Amino acid sequence: MTNFSTHSQVDEIGRVVSVGDGIARVFGLNEIQAGEMVEFASGVKGIALNLENENVGIVVFGSDTAMKEGDLVKRTGSIVDVPAGKAMLGRVVDALGVPIDGRGALSDHERRRVEVKAPGIIERKSVHEPMQTGLKAVDSLVPIGRGQRELLIGDRQTGKTAIAIDTILNQKQMNSRAPLRAVAYRQMSLLLRRPPGREAFPGDVFYLHSRLLERAAKRSDQTGAGSSTALPVIETQAGDVSAYIPTNVIPITDGQICSETELFYRGIRPAINVGLSVSRVGSAAQLRAMKQVRGSSKLELAQYREVAAFAQFGSDLDAATQALPNRGARLTEVPKQPQYSPLPIEKQIVVIYAAVNGFCDRMPLDRISKYERAIPSSIDPELLKSLLDKGGFTNERKMEPDASLKESALPYL
Ligand SMILES: Nc1ncnc2c1ncn2[C@@H]1O[C@H](COP(=O)(O)OP(=O)(O)O)[C@@H](O)[C@H]1O
Ligand SMILES: [Mg+2]
Repeated sequence: MTNFSTHSQVDEIGRVVSVGDGIARVFGLNEIQAGEMVEFASGVKGIALNLENENVGIVVFGSDTAMKEGDLVKRTGSIVDVPAGKAMLGRVVDALGVPIDGRGALSDHERRRVEVKAPGIIERKSVHEPMQTGLKAVDSLVPIGRGQRELLIGDRQTGKTAIAIDTILNQKQMNSRAPLRAVAYRQMSLLLRRPPGREAFPGDVFYLHSRLLERAAKRSDQTGAGSSTALPVIETQAGDVSAYIPTNVIPITDGQICSETELFYRGIRPAINVGLSVSRVGSAAQLRAMKQVRGSSKLELAQYREVAAFAQFGSDLDAATQALPNRGARLTEVPKQPQYSPLPIEKQIVVIYAAVNGFCDRMPLDRISKYERAIPSSIDPELLKSLLDKGGFTNERKMEPDASLKESALPYL
């Protein structure tokens, strides 16, 4: 009796009414908050998404097969959060922040809510530093800046994920963001019996996307000058960019990289359609030397695609028109790049310099990639390094690489 205490702890609990398709309906839990984590008797966690009069709709994070009617459900009191901070650098985690890279538990970390308010205008600065992907086709033609939102869009199997992964590999300190899939949100919303809208997506899917993408930002110096860049991925069906989700996401990003099946199967990989791809803010962040060398290559490439159709007939073209397909074929060849082999930006610059200045105009197409790989080591390392500074190719520096480029081209002509 002496140990009897009048303090007793009451967990607010509920009971499962029905369960199926990853959604549990729970009776009780009267005080639960929207977005709160709950724990089922089996230890599986869930998130309360729909608060209704009679019950609470909970999305189950894990397998629901062992659950049955009457099972206990406990509130955790915390809104969905994930581990954050320095301990996350270089780690690979699943959507709930659980490590999946086999490198053990996260050391000393803090937790932060998943849903937070995006930084406001005052806390931001415009995008001004390059976020190098290591891919020639992207860094030269659709440059991305730190804090930018650049959409990767294209049919399945066109190399979207490959671009995103190569970009992550090219970052010295990578900071991965858990993916949020629109199709999963549609299924979840339909199963929760939320009213379906266009293409059966719930009405708030657009709000979901903008909420997420608004959080990509370049921070002002006063707020730490950090940045978070977003590369959302959208899979199209048969190249249809006018479907509901693409038309909603294209205007809330700062540009898009379009990948195409046709290019992919012609061996142009990364299969980026340069005509349709744009970067609305990244060119402000592009290195001066890269700006100088890429010059009109985007335009030339676009013209080439037009003329290529005629060139196939082998008709008698005048010398000037004949030069265009020749150069265009080379400009198409140079940005090709295998996966997992990002190229430092200064090396990209000399390679593109060689192509736009005609050093491979008379080279057979199948030797260009070999020549290209030989270029960086043939250039004076001091010159390479100097391309990284603000001045780019100054007047004195303009012709410097020419002699070495000409010489290293000889074995491949
Ligand atoms: N630059 C590339 N060179 C060679 N193969 C590539 C390249 N990019 C992607 N691939 C291959 O193409 C396939 C599809 O790529 P993936 O990134 O998964 O496409 P998506 O995400 O668009 O469905 C994968 O097998 C990948 O290894
Ligand atoms: Mg993919």
